[in-house]
Amino acid sequence: MMASSIATQNWQQISSIRLQQHQWQSSEVLPLDHQIPPQHLINAPTGVVENFGLLLSRDVYSEGDSQILYDHLLSRRDELNHDFLVMLDLWLEDELKHYEALRRTYRCLSGVSYGEMDRSFQQRVHNLEPIGMLLQDEFTILVTLMFDEIGSVYSYRRDLAEYYCYFGTEIRQVAHHLVKDEGTHFGNAAELLLWHHPHRLREVPALLGEIVALERRLGKYYQVFFLDHAQEQHRFPPDFNQLISQVVLARLDLGRSPNSSALRQLWQWKPAGQNFTPFS
Ligand SMILES: [Fe+2]
Ligand SMILES: [Fe+2]
Repeated sequence: MMASSIATQNWQQISSIRLQQHQWQSSEVLPLDHQIPPQHLINAPTGVVENFGLLLSRDVYSEGDSQILYDHLLSRRDELNHDFLVMLDLWLEDELKHYEALRRTYRCLSGVSYGEMDRSFQQRVHNLEPIGMLLQDEFTILVTLMFDEIGSVYSYRRDLAEYYCYFGTEIRQVAHHLVKDEGTHFGNAAELLLWHHPHRLREVPALLGEIVALERRLGKYYQVFFLDHAQEQHRFPPDFNQLISQVVLARLDLGRSPNSSALRQLWQWKPAGQNFTPFS
């Protein structure tokens, strides 16, 4: 596991807002040596095992990239509110839990060893510079976090319905926890914005537009956690970013939520002629 500088409990004690954390442990859901029953691998629809493996070969590491973003933000702790730092500790704890749960999932699906995954992670090249405009200050970081986390909610919901659901209760349960945690991260970032930055909320719509434009412009993921969906835009309906931006605005009381059928499309949409959204 990566070195983590989980911060002190003191920050949590002095937090002035209610931050949520969904409680679960990857070791309780998926043991290190878990084996997927062979009939699940045989019975999964054609292409699902292969595409799920490819999907995990990417998602495992982007969850682990949370440590890179955390370390960067912690180096700027003097410019951040205590509540933000409390939230950040809870967030990192969850994201590293996701990293661990996905490592376990990837190993039992594709046979990739933990040692191989460690080596792959160490070889990654992380570059914060292309997303510098998102990291200007606590306000822009929180809006980006809301955008990114709600995107992950719908992305994991799709993955649950198309991939995780075929491989047994334990694997399915991992996806359920991921969806729940990413939703909690979205909510915590919203609470921080509403509490600490109410005077800047009017900037949110324009900033969301800039985030969407940047993601489109970058076209690839720079391995620093934010905008990891830049690498898989073909897996989402064309209006995905516009709809999740509306969800962000609605959570901040700046607009109306998309209707339920539009929200359902975020995770039920499939490319024409496909039964699932392929990895590439
Ligand atoms: Fe995550
Ligand atoms: Fe998250």
